[in-house]
Amino acid sequence: MISLTVNGVSHQLDIEGDTPLLWVVRDILNLKGSKFGCGAGLCGACTMHLNGQPIRTCIMPVSAVAGQQITTIEGITPAQGLSPVQQAWTELNVPQCGYCQSGQIMSASALLASNPNPSDQDIDNAMSGNICRCGTYPRIRKAIHRAAE
Ligand code: FES
Repeated sequence: MISLTVNGVSHQLDIEGDTPLLWVVRDILNLKGSKFGCGAGLCGACTMHLNGQPIRTCIMPVSAVAGQQITTIEGITPAQGLSPVQQAWTELNVPQCGYCQSGQIMSASALLASNPNPSDQDIDNAMSGNICRCGTYPRIRKAIHRAAE
């Protein structure tokens, strides 16, 4: 049994410890907001928070995060409305195809939680692990500044 806490809810799961966290969250807990992109820790589409820090969940064995706080995009979304980061994303029409944006928002949210007024360089450093094939980077940067206002 693996004990997993996702978005504040505890689960006891009868699964292999080397199962990647992304699979557990999507296929067992049925939270589909986090995406599978590369499966190799390279693109950031699968980003969630582990104790508030962004992690690549496609390469994270579930046993390594047992008993810790996992947060998904569903967990940062208020019951009503949007988080400030999501609101900025919407106002500035950041997504193009949208596939990577859950991971982008998770990385941006973690950045703003630790650095409420990031510089362009801070943003580029924090977001460098999140790839967007549509090239929405300029809008992502603007949206992070907007959310910081
Ligand atoms: Fe996890 Fe690309 S799917 S980093």
